[in-house]
Amino acid sequence: MSIAIEKFINGVFTVDCREGMKNMPENSVDSIITDPPYGLEFMGRDWDRGVPGVGFWVEALRVSKPGAILLAFGGTRTYHRLVCAIEDAGWEIRDCMMWLYGTGFPKSHDISKAIDKELGVARTQVRHEAKVIRNPKSILSGHGVDGGDRPWMREAKEKGFYEKDGNVPATDQSERNSNLPEELKNDHPTVKPLMLMEYLCTLTRTPTGGIVLDPFCGSGSTLVAAQNTGRSFVGFDLAPEYVKISKGRLGQLKEVA
Ligand SMILES: C[S@@+](CC[C@H](N)C(=O)[O-])C[C@H]1O[C@@H](n2cnc3c(N)ncnc32)[C@H](O)[C@@H]1O
Repeated sequence: MSIAIEKFINGVFTVDCREGMKNMPENSVDSIITDPPYGLEFMGRDWDRGVPGVGFWVEALRVSKPGAILLAFGGTRTYHRLVCAIEDAGWEIRDCMMWLYGTGFPKSHDISKAIDKELGVARTQVRHEAKVIRNPKSILSGHGVDGGDRPWMREAKEKGFYEKDGNVPATDQSERNSNLPEELKNDHPTVKPLMLMEYLCTLTRTPTGGIVLDPFCGSGSTLVAAQNTGRSFVGFDLAPEYVKISKGRLGQLKEVA
């Protein structure tokens, strides 16, 4: 038997979302905006073992109101599995959007580095190479081309989406830790920028006051964005430490203590 949706509104719950969603009534959320596991075992994290399958997205469809929009992040190497599972669950695929960013580290294996290691001549200095990959402007300048002056980069700069230095993280420390007490640090490895998440909350046309569900909320970026844009939210995460960080960022920490 399901629990009334009011019990979930503006709550963050430490639970496997497959269990959490089972308790939710059908047709209850206006949108789902989520950043699920990509199945890459990112940084050795256990929670990133697999992409959510058809059964999960069937349940997501059940709890969504008719016409609700689902936005799910996917990784470049596994997004195809994600999209097929979502479609096989009964959702209609409308589009594929890209969020391009110049930070993070390359997720593919560097074969030349692996060969060197195998031969016992592992390199200690690969930093320069990585920096060049991250910062397209530095590759292009000095070769008669200044990538920073391309029209699309100019537009990105004007809108505040351009990072001058590829080493600047997508979410800075003050943003990821805002509202958190001194002793609590947001160390989630895949925090999403609030500006991006706020944009997505409005893009889905989730009505003001409507409910955004993030079943894999991590450190709560979707939930904070929903709150900042006047929406309600429901968040689930397996890890109590991430739920605590989410609650802190949402200004709900007193409820945890
Ligand atoms: C990619 S991270 C989300 C990060 C988030 N977007 C942020 O900005 O912090 C995915 C999260 O899903 C959680 N997770 C993985 N499997 C889960 C499950 N079955 N139920 C609930 N949470 C799960 C992990 O603990 C992890 O925090």
